[in-house]
Amino acid sequence: MQLSANGQKVFDARYAGKDENGQINETFPQAVHRLATTASIVEQDQHYWTTKFTDVIGNLLFVPSTPIWANVGKTDRPWQPGACFVLAVEDSLHSMYDVLHQTAMIFKSGGGTGYNFSSIRPKGDLVHSTKGQASGVVELIRLYNASANMVMQGGVRRGASLGILNIDHPEIKDFINAKLNGDLTNFNLSVGVIDAFMDALNQGAAWELKFNGKVYETIAATELWDMLIWAAHACGDPGIIFLDQIQRANPVPGKVMNATNPCGEQPLYPGESCLLGSVNLAKMVKAGAVDWDLLRDTVSLAVKFLDNLIDVAEYPLPLVDQNTKSTRKIGLGFTGLADALIMANLAYDSPEGRSFAGELTRFIQQTAHETSRELAEEKGCFPDWENSIYYPHEKRRNAACITIAPTGSVTAMAGCEGYGVEPIFAVAYTKQTKVAGDFEVFSPLFLEACQRRGVTADVLTEVAQRGTCQGVTGIPRDIQQIFKGAQDIAPRDHIKMQVAVQKNTDNAVSKTINLPNSATVNDIDKSYRLAYQLGLKGITVFRDGCKEGVITVGEGKP
Ligand code: CDP
Repeated sequence: MQLSANGQKVFDARYAGKDENGQINETFPQAVHRLATTASIVEQDQHYWTTKFTDVIGNLLFVPSTPIWANVGKTDRPWQPGACFVLAVEDSLHSMYDVLHQTAMIFKSGGGTGYNFSSIRPKGDLVHSTKGQASGVVELIRLYNASANMVMQGGVRRGASLGILNIDHPEIKDFINAKLNGDLTNFNLSVGVIDAFMDALNQGAAWELKFNGKVYETIAATELWDMLIWAAHACGDPGIIFLDQIQRANPVPGKVMNATNPCGEQPLYPGESCLLGSVNLAKMVKAGAVDWDLLRDTVSLAVKFLDNLIDVAEYPLPLVDQNTKSTRKIGLGFTGLADALIMANLAYDSPEGRSFAGELTRFIQQTAHETSRELAEEKGCFPDWENSIYYPHEKRRNAACITIAPTGSVTAMAGCEGYGVEPIFAVAYTKQTKVAGDFEVFSPLFLEACQRRGVTADVLTEVAQRGTCQGVTGIPRDIQQIFKGAQDIAPRDHIKMQVAVQKNTDNAVSKTINLPNSATVNDIDKSYRLAYQLGLKGITVFRDGCKEGVITVGEGKP
């Protein structure tokens, strides 16, 4: 039970218990024990399950997400395990500030929140009580964004937020352009797009912007779409959420599902929350082949662990507690897909690589559903089961089981190279620092492969300067094929990987579609349309260098 040096840093900074003076007073094995014992409280044979959970978490086969490590089982904070929340904001000052307060409570407990703002009246509309003008959606987002600066999640990181506005809302143009000036840094923005709009776009038809049945403006669907892709090209926002696609996969169809958590992987009902955890795929490949038995046991224990935590959870708001316990959604996913592909000698952007990822996800989903059925037999179905798509034939403990999260912190703790479903960031790059000067940073898996094949130091230096091994003389062709960074992979292939994984994901997949700095607006256009055609629930693109302060690869850019 040991972490790498980097993994230990993440653990110490974010998850370890601390005394009143902020001094660390918990080791990694102690934290594993804390999680395992807490998740076993609801079991009859607590000793047996504590041992099982300790084994699978302590060996980093299964990695629960940040709020679980940071909160669960600690004596000084509520056992809030959820990373993902959605809140409903209504068109009244009361609701806007109520939800702001609820958001602060959620941030404080380590979660992030998504909102669909489409029920807010547009800017300039009449406010009946004062006869004044409404401030509108974008102004409200500014308020929420400013508040996010105030509240750090458990003192360690800033809470993320996602604002969604439907494509027919009268304020949609301002919303689309809201991040162009570099503001709203605590918010991701996504436009809620419906099939009818995509039809209008494809037919070159007109599109109505309306609120409460009143049409405010009629605009060509292509004009609105062009604004959207132009803004996404310029600053990475907005992304898109395909609302009908989400609705088609709604496990309790009577409930509205029009928003997701901040990174897009978890569609939720208003006032609902979900907790996350990841199988470490880097540990599932042995001598180039998947250890399916190990994967099955790991998934099964992970589902039970997450499900048990719903019972011991202390959610920050009674509404969230009630909604979350009605559906008992869990978000089990994976991290280290890139590592697993490399270990199996498969290219991320090849048909074989995609079918490997698809097969792994299918197996994880199947096993998770089996476990959820067994748990339903043992402990009962989720309370909303009779209103769900599973009723009456299939018993389920959880309305949904699979979610592919970004795994931004837990991947670093687990020591994987690839985050969630992403490829490795880059095989190497030159890091420029003021104190230590320039130095080369290599992907350990890449370095190992090169050393095995006798690649010389000057060739490696060239790779670091270029930020890629593609086309570098002296790097064997098969190594070039397997070791591709995010920028070496065509946008289309990023999307195809998202599709391969989404097919067997109950909830959604958090994935960045990387584009080179030279990508055109037309490239964004193609990517967003392809995502719709291939049935994705959402898409976000990232053009290298379009946001300040992000890491870019290649010579001279750390
Ligand atoms: O790796 P970790 O468990 O920390 O989280 P992640 O997989 O990167 O993010 C999962 C979810 O946690 C996000 O989609 C957000 O809902 C939430 N989150 C947040 O609220 N604030 C952050 N700074 C990061 C994540």
